[in-house]
Amino acid sequence: MRLISLPATLSIALAAAIEPPEGHPWLAPGPNDYRVPCPMLNTLSNHQFLPRDGRNITKDKVVSAMSSALNFNESLGALMFDMAIVANPEPNATFFTLYQLNRHNVLEHDSSLSRSDTFFGNNHVFNESIFNETKAYWTGEILDANMLANSKVARQLSSKAFNPNYTFTSTIEGFSLGEVSAPIVAFGDLQAATVNRTLVEYFFRNERLPTELGWSTRTEIINIDIISRLTQIISNASSLITTSEAVVSSPRRDLHAGIY
Ligand code: HEM
Repeated sequence: MRLISLPATLSIALAAAIEPPEGHPWLAPGPNDYRVPCPMLNTLSNHQFLPRDGRNITKDKVVSAMSSALNFNESLGALMFDMAIVANPEPNATFFTLYQLNRHNVLEHDSSLSRSDTFFGNNHVFNESIFNETKAYWTGEILDANMLANSKVARQLSSKAFNPNYTFTSTIEGFSLGEVSAPIVAFGDLQAATVNRTLVEYFFRNERLPTELGWSTRTEIINIDIISRLTQIISNASSLITTSEAVVSSPRRDLHAGIY
């Protein structure tokens, strides 16, 4: 084999650029592949942890994908499948497709962080202007629970103000809190409940695991207790009531010069 000698910086850049999760290279979805409003299910399909075509997603496949890509334990993967299977309208269904998850007000809901409300158009494709609304509240390089919660509440307020069909039940609130804490679960510091903004933006925008930015599957196994704790932290941070102490996370006052 002939080895080509590259300048060190170029070699490092190339190595970083082609580094996929082992055995799971990323491939953009084709025109007939189903995708969904969940950036993680899309990501796992793009890396073929889940079927690339977005079809025939069984419990075994969900458990295995969540475990290999994100180190979720088996019972958590199974629980997620059990919650998702309602999307398939067939009685006693044993699989769902990503297309079925797009059904409005089953699991898909209004006020997403990166998708439009159904009332306004496509509810499942990444939407840059919606994501810009969300990012306006991500006021630091490290996202904390307040920033994530603020973006959630702001998206709800925007939908409530402008979408005459705005729907957000307490069941949806439960899903939403899980979704908003999910970037911490996948890429962040579980103890501090924070996550690097760059990783999160890359993930939403590219529907790709941020391996080339230095991320790798965590070694700590994720269980339901970890998810519940983080969800509760986001829920607490979503309250607009404070104690007598100010609750502000790294405000970028330059962004609000006209307000302060
Ligand atoms: C079987 C497992 C899963 C199912 C069925 C599922 C389903 C969904 C659905 C239907 C949505 C859209 C909700 C909306 O309308 O905004 C969603 C959003 C989301 N999901 Fe998943 N999901 C799963 C696992 C995960 C995992 C493991 C993560 C990351 C750890 C994740 C991260 C997210 C995020 C960040 C959103 C919010 C997207 C947005 O608001 O724009 N999901 N998920």
